[in-house]
Amino acid sequence: MKAPLRQNSDLYMKKNEIEVLFTKEQIQKRVEELARQIEDDYHGRDLVVVGVLKGAFIFMSDLVRSVKTPLACDFLRVSSYEHDKNTGVVRMEFDTTQPITGKDVLLVEDIVDSGRTLRHILKHMEAKEPRSVKVASLLYKETGAGIKKLVNYIGFETPDRYVIGYGLDSEGIYRSLPYIGAFK
Ligand code: IMP
Ligand code: MG
Repeated sequence: MKAPLRQNSDLYMKKNEIEVLFTKEQIQKRVEELARQIEDDYHGRDLVVVGVLKGAFIFMSDLVRSVKTPLACDFLRVSSYEHDKNTGVVRMEFDTTQPITGKDVLLVEDIVDSGRTLRHILKHMEAKEPRSVKVASLLYKETGAGIKKLVNYIGFETPDRYVIGYGLDSEGIYRSLPYIGAFK
């Protein structure tokens, strides 16, 4: 049986099995660019940034620290993946805790693939009657699902491969990699 990967050192030893798609430096630069756009777009607004756990936690923490205008942070959690496969059923595991009615909400996602998760969350958020809801996703997988118009801020477009790192996991591991990669 394969030994489970438990430590960061093991993750880095596995590096030669992972193809780096976006380096730490590329990600940092792109996060700064997105932060400038968000500052311009939300200047003087009552902004609540809502991170979709768990995948968005690293992107969100870098993004909110780069945005120089005041904002509130909240989180929700949905799940649809089991063993790296999309089950097709989106479950809301926990919801935001502060009122968002009348506020400008920026949803932060790690990756939009089929868009099923995003549609589900958007419907859920819109029922709370915020002033606006926009979406920032670190990655957008070009799978032809035709939902690009729902994503206002895209970090990078990725090929249709299973990606890991910078928040994204495979069976719960690899979220802590500082870059985004895919298995070779
Ligand atoms: P969608 O509902 O098909 O758009 O899938 C979106 C969610 O599935 C994301 O928020 C991720 O949590 C997960 N996901 C989709 N593709 C990947 C991937 O390549 N790597 C890791 N997680 C993924
Ligand atoms: Mg996710």
